Amino acid sequence: MSFVEYGDTIKDGDTAIVFLGHESMFPVKVQHGTVTQTKYGVIRHSTDLIGKKYGSKVTCSKGGWVFILHPTPELWTMNLPHRTQILYSTDISIITMMLELKPGSIVCESGTGSGSLSHALIRTVAPTGHLYTVEFHQQRAEKAREEFREHGVEHLVTVTNQDVCKNGFGVSDIADAVFLDIPSPWEAIGHAKSALKAEGGRICSFSPCIEQVQRTCLAMEEYGFTEINTLEILLRVYNVRTISLQIPDLGKAAEDNSSTGFDSSNPSNQGSPCANLQQGTVQFKSGVPLREMVGHTGYLTFATKS
Ligand SMILES: C[S@@+](CC[C@H](N)C(=O)[O-])C[C@H]1O[C@@H](n2cnc3c(N)ncnc32)[C@H](O)[C@@H]1O
Repeated sequence: MSFVEYGDTIKDGDTAIVFLGHESMFPVKVQHGTVTQTKYGVIRHSTDLIGKKYGSKVTCSKGGWVFILHPTPELWTMNLPHRTQILYSTDISIITMMLELKPGSIVCESGTGSGSLSHALIRTVAPTGHLYTVEFHQQRAEKAREEFREHGVEHLVTVTNQDVCKNGFGVSDIADAVFLDIPSPWEAIGHAKSALKAEGGRICSFSPCIEQVQRTCLAMEEYGFTEINTLEILLRVYNVRTISLQIPDLGKAAEDNSSTGFDSSNPSNQGSPCANLQQGTVQFKSGVPLREMVGHTGYLTFATKS
């Protein structure tokens, strides 16, 4: 297993995702002789996991079952231990596209934080690209290095423990793209410009507050970046639900199917989404937005060095 290469069977040392149900999963480090507790009972790694295929249904000691999934950056983002606020897949997807990342791209990032974005960047630039990520908090930098090693991607990433605003990314004239998620990105724009290739590249800065965006845009302009563009991405999730609506009682004539505009005896209506006409109600499937929507995460400012 590695986060950039699919492995068919679960092996000692892998990071696997234990899937208990919708929005209920957690990562587990597979180790001979170890057990993992779930609400359905115990999973014994040596007998229940190692040698089984990813995607298997595993029966726990109390008789309930879970699925064991191969890790991906998206599953890791949903399950990783938070050491900081992290970026989620909605923002990550637009960052990847707008930075024009592909296999072979060289990317600079700061800060590494919890490595949520880093895993996605690494997966995109593999197998020939590289991520240079800078984190000034020593323990966070070390923990990120350890995770990259465990996840089989250490050859694709260099973690540097320094202040990006003072010391930059530790590389120059090498990057196709730079990404910033730090409180004062405007102080790192000059270093970002030096890290990017002489022929140019793309930059993105993520900031929660509009005042940070204003200062960053001014700094980008000062350093000669063009196509400066700020946007925000909002995700709307829908649940599929069966909806029942009461057919209005319009008196005797309404008992005739034709008055509802729906003839369930007509073969062309069989299997239609609202074919379930019973006892004064009509049922149909519909997509219903969740009552609570994920709100503001941050503004994404993109620009080009040309
Ligand atoms: C919000 S977190 C980044 C989260 C990351 N994008 C993720 O998806 O997991 C910001 C990180 O930047 C680091 N940081 C802040 N200012 C920095 C600087 N000047 N140089 C290097 N790292 C910095 C912090 O220690 C923190 O870990």
